[in-house]
This record gives sequence, structure tokens and C-alpha cells, in this order.
Amino acid sequence: MSAPAKKRGLAAPSERLEAIPPYMFAELERRVEEKRDEGIDVISLGIGDPDTPTFRYIVEAMRAAAGDPGTQRYPSNRGRPEFRRAFADFYLWRFGVEIDPVSEVIPAIGAKECIYNLCFAFLDPADVALASDPGYPVYTGGPVLAGAEAHLLPLRPDWGFAPDLDAIPEEKLDAARLLFLNYPNNPTGAVVPEGLFERVVELATRHEILVVHDNAYSETTYDGYVAPSFLATPGAKEVGVEVFSLSKGYNMTGWRCAAILGNADAIKTYWRLKTNVDSGLYEAVQLAGAAALRGARSEVEAMCRIYQRRRDLVVAALGDIGVEVEPPKGTIYVWAPVPDGHTSASFAELVLEEAAVVVSPGSMYGPSGEGFFRISLTTPDELLSEAMQRLRAHLSG
Ligand SMILES: Cc1ncc(COP(=O)(O)O)c(C=O)c1O
Repeated sequence: MSAPAKKRGLAAPSERLEAIPPYMFAELERRVEEKRDEGIDVISLGIGDPDTPTFRYIVEAMRAAAGDPGTQRYPSNRGRPEFRRAFADFYLWRFGVEIDPVSEVIPAIGAKECIYNLCFAFLDPADVALASDPGYPVYTGGPVLAGAEAHLLPLRPDWGFAPDLDAIPEEKLDAARLLFLNYPNNPTGAVVPEGLFERVVELATRHEILVVHDNAYSETTYDGYVAPSFLATPGAKEVGVEVFSLSKGYNMTGWRCAAILGNADAIKTYWRLKTNVDSGLYEAVQLAGAAALRGARSEVEAMCRIYQRRRDLVVAALGDIGVEVEPPKGTIYVWAPVPDGHTSASFAELVLEEAAVVVSPGSMYGPSGEGFFRISLTTPDELLSEAMQRLRAHLSG
């Protein structure tokens, strides 16, 4: 018998898994637990996970749907007609985008699943995915796990956090198959800079790159700003898809409810991958998601008012400790520069040690996040006020 292939230990991760850092929020959670075990009352402003419940009308729809035996079997990965139709109607009403409910939308088990699986559907080794930096970690982890390369596109603060598309090396453009973008943007809170979507469509058309616009925050905006869909850009559907998550705008992070919309051929390829790796989104959740999109806007608007109030509280407190920030027009985050003399990590460490408050170091979102930190607004008002008081008390002057 020939010797076994190289052995690396029973529980050793694959080389691909080894190549990506541990998922950053897992590490942050570990630190918070450590402090709490020491008896320290830590306030975490790390994760962006809405603290208020899913809207009641969505829960009621779920209750009814869960009791219907018609929702209890394996779902089809194409999705229920009610789900696809609700998305098509929502996209027309909300964004002025026509979606064919038969071929241009299917459910995803959250945007994270969708983005990860898009990497496996489209990338081979030697392919490149272009990924915003700083950015949601799956834009880089997904390509690496798929055996491909993530090429970072630094978002420029002086350009309203747009990437410099002209700076992408020609060989990367030649090898690129995917381009990940996200506006309103996590972690920077930036809304899409004027003309960027148009320039992206032009670049993607020229280089045959599938654009994946991660639309996780379009329903959470402030000061009267209304976020567009990437798919409303002329030509976008020829080169792109949009992933729309209900997690943040509808307080549904635990439900894992999202959809991919846009280019029909690309959606078919994603569907083909999915039929091999999962069994679709629970149909009761699909019906609840459809109810969410068809529901009154008052709940979504009320959430925006809550976050806007918290945003103002945070921006004012940061001003008091000498950190000046432009109030973001969207998302549930405030992105701020660290004070002079600090790195992202050293400042986050200082805040944790001195004030027992967790902020996310910007470097967790990519090298271009260095020099920044992120505060999530998904903490109840009193606790957020207390956290800001601690920053004032321990970090002023
Ligand atoms: C930009 C962005 N995309 C996707 C997600 C995850 O969305 P979902 O809960 O639908 O997986 C998040 C969550 O923080 C996010 O910030």
C-alpha cells in the first residue's frame, strides 16, 4: 500500500481556511466575554445587529406561515412565487427597477450565504474578485476560500469612499470575474458617490466582470437621503446582480432572509451552485419576507428615526473627545478617525481598557480601514448614552 498523502492532523483546517484570519466578530465576542468573566461591565458597540424586535406584522405572517403544512417541506431554491412577486413589486415601487419575478430574482439564506456562494459559482483558482477595502469580510474571505484571489480596491475618504477604478492594474482586470460593492457602505457609512455606479457599469462591460452590489442598508438612511438600487443604473442588469438583505432594514438578522436580483443568467449560475450545496430558504421565512416588503413603511421609517437620533448622540460625543466626523447619511454605523498617535487596534484597546466599551478597529475591515474605528448604533439609547459618557469621562483631553 502506498503511503498516505500528506497528513496535517485530524482537526487541522484546510490551507484555504488557514489563509483567512479568524472571523473578526468571533474574536471580538471572545474579548468581551473575557472582560465580563473578570466582572467588568462591558458595553459592546461592535456588531451591527438591531436591538429592537422584528416588526410585529412580520412575526404574525411567520406565525401563520409556519402553521401551514404547505411550507414545511424542502423549499425549492427558485423560491415561492409570492416571494419573487413581492420583490418584483418592491423593486418597482421603491427603486423604479423592473424585475421579472420568474427569471430575475431568487431567495438567498442571508446576504452572507449569497456572497460566499457566488464566489464558488463564479471563481476558479487564478481568477480574481475585486473587493472594496474596507469592506464586509466575506468579499475577501469568500474568494480565498474558493481558491481565487481577492484584489483590494481601497475606498478613498477624500472621494466620499469611492474606489479609484483607474488604479486597478490591467492584469487584475483581465483576471477579474467578480466585483463587490456596497452602498450605503459598511463600515464607512458612505452613500454612493455621484456617478460611481455608472463608471462601474462601464468598467464591468468593458472587462466582462460580474458586479455584485451588496444592498444591505438601502432602507436605513437619514436626513432625507433615499438610497438607490445599483440595478437602477442604465446597463446594470447586463453586468450585475444586487443582493438585498432584510436583516438590517426590517430587524430580521436571525431570520436569514435575502434575495439576489438582476442578471438572469448570473442568477441561474448561482442557483445551479445552490442546488448542490443547500436546500433553499425555509418557505415560511419566504412568506414572512414577502409580508415584510409589502408592509407599511411606518416601521422602517421609525427605525431610521431611532438610528438617526443615536447617530447624532454618537457624533456629538465623539466631537467632545476631539474626534470630528461627518454624520453618515446611511447604515447603522459611525466611522471615525482614531486620535493622533493611535492605530485602529491601539485605540480600540484603549477604549476597552479605559472605558469598558467595545468599538471595532477599522483595520478589521481591511488595510484601508487602518486609522479608523467603527461604532454600531444597534444599542438601546440609555446604554449608548452610558457608553458615550464613559468615552467623555475617560478619553477627554
Ligand atoms: C455589507 C453587509 N453585507 C451583508 C451583511 C450580512 O447580511 P445577512 O444578515 O443578510 O447575511 C452585512 C451584515 O453586517 C453587511 O454589513
